[in-house]
Amino acid sequence: MTIDLAALPEDFLWGTATSAYQIEGAVAEDGRSPSIWDTFSHTPGKVDNGDDGDVACDHYHRWREDIEIMRRLGTNAYRLSVAWPRVMPGGDGPVNTKGLDYYDALIDGLLEAGITPSVTLYHWDLPQVLQDRGGWPARDTAHHLAAYASAVAERLGDRVRHWTTLNEPLCSAWIGHLEGRMAPGLADLTTAVRASYHLLLGHGLATQAIRAAAPGAQIGIVNNLGSIEAATDRPEDVAAAKRLDGHTNRWWLDPVHGRGFPADMVEVYGVELPEVAGDLETMAAPLDWLGLNYYFPSHVVDDPTGPAPYARQIRRPGVPVTAMDWEIEAAGIESLLLRLTNEYGARRLYVTENGSAYPDVVRPDGTVHDPERVAYLEQHLAACASAARKGAPLAGYFAWSLLDNFEWAYGYDKRFGLVHVDYKTQVRTIKGSGHRYAEIVREHLGGASRAA
Ligand code: FCB
Repeated sequence: MTIDLAALPEDFLWGTATSAYQIEGAVAEDGRSPSIWDTFSHTPGKVDNGDDGDVACDHYHRWREDIEIMRRLGTNAYRLSVAWPRVMPGGDGPVNTKGLDYYDALIDGLLEAGITPSVTLYHWDLPQVLQDRGGWPARDTAHHLAAYASAVAERLGDRVRHWTTLNEPLCSAWIGHLEGRMAPGLADLTTAVRASYHLLLGHGLATQAIRAAAPGAQIGIVNNLGSIEAATDRPEDVAAAKRLDGHTNRWWLDPVHGRGFPADMVEVYGVELPEVAGDLETMAAPLDWLGLNYYFPSHVVDDPTGPAPYARQIRRPGVPVTAMDWEIEAAGIESLLLRLTNEYGARRLYVTENGSAYPDVVRPDGTVHDPERVAYLEQHLAACASAARKGAPLAGYFAWSLLDNFEWAYGYDKRFGLVHVDYKTQVRTIKGSGHRYAEIVREHLGGASRAA
């Protein structure tokens, strides 16, 4: 498929994305303490096949090889996350220099390869010691995030410009504290609402801390927003879609944009917010950009007996799905980019994650043939370009993921990489989709430099 990328800017960031716990391994090295994901993955029955992140892609030792792969792909950006339990194993101090040394060297390696690093501070790996002291439902955790953010920004801020405070706080709060399917595995609405509040407070405090430590930092937050529609015209389903929109989108976007928490959702949850004067201003600390993670659309029916927000997503018969059983609908990424532009006045946007899982195998000739992922990539890039043509200020796209990796509660079975990982040998093989991505990037950046 030919994709018209002319609407994307010449300095577009073409990246891949990963996160610390999903790829690093080396969980007990150089002073790292356990995170809530170490605890969760080692709790029987929580992760498919009993998988854990102990070794993962062994990226902690193989990062030079992985940068070389990025170089071969021709990407000019890379989104990584820093592991809080490496940098502050005690949760709130002191700083573990060895933990920071690792990221320092990684950043230098990326810059030497001409790759712009985009650093996420919190991609779900809360130090277990902080969970033991109350975790996100406790207000102190928000302040600890800011102290950790400050330590990282002080060390890396002379070279890193792109910062993300939180990755998908929705998953931390709702999946981790309401549905119990992710660490820390709790299932209680009041606890979850309190967690969501302190995550957003932590975001605001961390934003201020990064700005103080690294002037010139470009700071954003990354949300996995939903492109949500009622499955039928029934008024109950239409109302359910509005609730899911509040739960998934507005609860996370409105406070950050100075609009406070959506009143309809405060009513749906019926939980008193742990508000202290000034919090809403902190949550709305000015941002430079917004990040969108998008995978699938949501079609919704009313579900009065389910957990909040009492809306259930259904699969539509005949619509193709990935190995995650997620429907494929590229139009969703376009509508969300346009919504962020038109409803929230976004001045700069990045697609910080987008990708698909399929059960890839390395063939006897050493190649990985993944035409479904190629099609997914092309369709979603075309939808991004269409959003840009309609005015979305899209400045970059990060494919999820560089490597196959530890896919949280699904373990290693779900492969999202543009690069296949053989977990027994740690051999990496660029998949067909990786080669196709390289071609798309080369054409766009080559065209840009010719025009320059
Ligand atoms: C997102 C996560 C990321 C990855 C993808 C598939 O929700 O941010 O770590 O697991 O889903």
